[in-house]
Amino acid sequence: MIGRLNHVAIVVPDLAAAAATYRQTLGATVSAPEDLPDHGVTTVFVELPNTKIELLHPLGEGSAIQTFLDRNPSGGLHHICYEVEDIIAARDALKASGARVLGDGEPKPGAHGKPVLFLHPKDFAGTLVELEQA
Ligand code: CO
Repeated sequence: MIGRLNHVAIVVPDLAAAAATYRQTLGATVSAPEDLPDHGVTTVFVELPNTKIELLHPLGEGSAIQTFLDRNPSGGLHHICYEVEDIIAARDALKASGARVLGDGEPKPGAHGKPVLFLHPKDFAGTLVELEQA
């Protein structure tokens, strides 16, 4: 069912500093910050030859990313995103096999404007999993 690794997401306490680390220290191509109010985050994407790194910082009140930063003040690994061809078919198959889909279970536009869903970490080896329709 799952296809390519689309990105790995890391929560960072200072988006500009993290972007500079990836750009200057690690020599990667780094996007401009983008606000995603529906998700309560500002994102920066780091382009790698085979995948991307999504740097996440809280945006607005009640961001789940703020809760994560409160628990992990220096930041940390947040989720991994796999591509699927058909997100509704993937969701229905996962739910039928007992996996829990977070939120209301309906795909929302993600960081690339494509539909995404999140799966419960307890069902996937303690890792928050994002599915993105490729
Ligand atoms: Co993501």
